[in-house]
Amino acid sequence: MAKAKTYYFCQECGYQSASWLGRCPECGKFGTFAEEVVKSAPTTGNKLRAPNSELRIPKKIQDVVYSETRRIPTHCSEFDRVLGGGIVSGSLLLLGGEPGIGKSTLLLQTALAINDRKLLYISGEESEQQIKMRADRLNSELRTSNTELYVVSETVTQRIFEHVDSVHPDLLIIDSIQTVSTEDLDSPAGSVGQIRQCTAEFQHFAKTTGVPVLLIGHITKDGSLAGPKVLEHIVDAVLQFEGDRNYGYRILRALKNRFGSTAEIGIFEMQGNGLREVPNPSEFLLSHRDETLSGAAVAATLEGARPMFVEVQSLVSSAVYGTPQRNANGFDMRRLSMLLAVLEKRCGFKLGAKDVFLNLAGGMRVSDPAIDLAVACAVLSSNVDIAISPRICFAAELGLSGEVRPVSRVEQRIAEADRIGFERIFISKYNSREIDPKRYRIQIVPVGVIEEAFRALFA
Ligand code: TYD
Ligand code: MG
Repeated sequence: MAKAKTYYFCQECGYQSASWLGRCPECGKFGTFAEEVVKSAPTTGNKLRAPNSELRIPKKIQDVVYSETRRIPTHCSEFDRVLGGGIVSGSLLLLGGEPGIGKSTLLLQTALAINDRKLLYISGEESEQQIKMRADRLNSELRTSNTELYVVSETVTQRIFEHVDSVHPDLLIIDSIQTVSTEDLDSPAGSVGQIRQCTAEFQHFAKTTGVPVLLIGHITKDGSLAGPKVLEHIVDAVLQFEGDRNYGYRILRALKNRFGSTAEIGIFEMQGNGLREVPNPSEFLLSHRDETLSGAAVAATLEGARPMFVEVQSLVSSAVYGTPQRNANGFDMRRLSMLLAVLEKRCGFKLGAKDVFLNLAGGMRVSDPAIDLAVACAVLSSNVDIAISPRICFAAELGLSGEVRPVSRVEQRIAEADRIGFERIFISKYNSREIDPKRYRIQIVPVGVIEEAFRALFA
């Protein structure tokens, strides 16, 4: 029998220590150490190195040969786009997201769509009947299709590998890494030690057999993957599925991808019968509003490499209490305060006497600085109570002295605005030098300082 030993693991970062510590030397958090009993010493490193342990000789880089990476296409263009063209054989992927966001739905739907391969879907959360019920909801022609998808409800890795041996799948899906455990450790499923050990086992499996493994991982309240950060280092790609549960849209992002770009995002909409791909997000996110409503402005932002048009809604009213209220949904509060201070200085906006509320339509979150000008104009529009035409959009950053600053890839934004049918786009005059306005139908309005935009819109 293997010798049982006790180790202490930081539940935040996975740091391992032989004794209990009050503060983690790795991540600096206090009171995060928990005891975990390990049957055999957790030196997974040696075990993992075993198959390649033959002597390796350093080669000149020109002499290294490799075969073209084989990929399994998912038959879902949004998913493929994020992956960089399909699931690479032998890779270990992690799909993270908050509970209920649709991770199981996405992977089950993808598994049902890949009908030329054998797949094994292991669920530690749902029974086979529940998976079937969901599959029926997603795909009504399941009975007639030739999908070779095997499902089993299992949580112990040793059993999982037995199922793998009997099915011989081309792709393995684990739902979720927090619910599986290995018999080598005594700690409960979901603890740092278990997550780390199980992930290492799946990685070992993927690398030695070439069968890609897709892991689902839950996300904690603060947005990090539950379990140790080390998980993110082990896997080849970390995908994050996010969105506001009160809205239908979902965004799939690659936070890390060894086989593709992290700039690509995939957009889906959750419907009654599963996720629908949204190839044209701009049209989806713009609310169809009345011409006469003040306080709204459209920003031409970029999400990764994709142009996305987001409506900024603002409400400015006289402050009734001593301290004016500020609230922003989907936009950084400190950035809002800064923009308001700029507006006070340059446009006579009475900062101290107004409540300001800001909201991005559709529950979007945007960090692209090109949204600044739209935010400022939405606030000004609400303040003077004059509507901005819904046919106008904005793409510029604001500087502290009120200067309208250039943004990246402005041509791409203009081309997309033109395509959607906007009539005017406000950009920085420093951006306008590099573009030829004759190429577009849309009228390009270059501005140097925020006052110019203010005058052009409301004078
Ligand atoms: P689920 O995939 O179970 O989330 P996760 O695995 O990330 O925890 O999906 C959860 C939500 O999705 C659930 O609240 C209901 C909704 N849903 C739909 O709206 N339509 C559908 O077709 C399905 C299957 C789920
Ligand atoms: Mg689930």
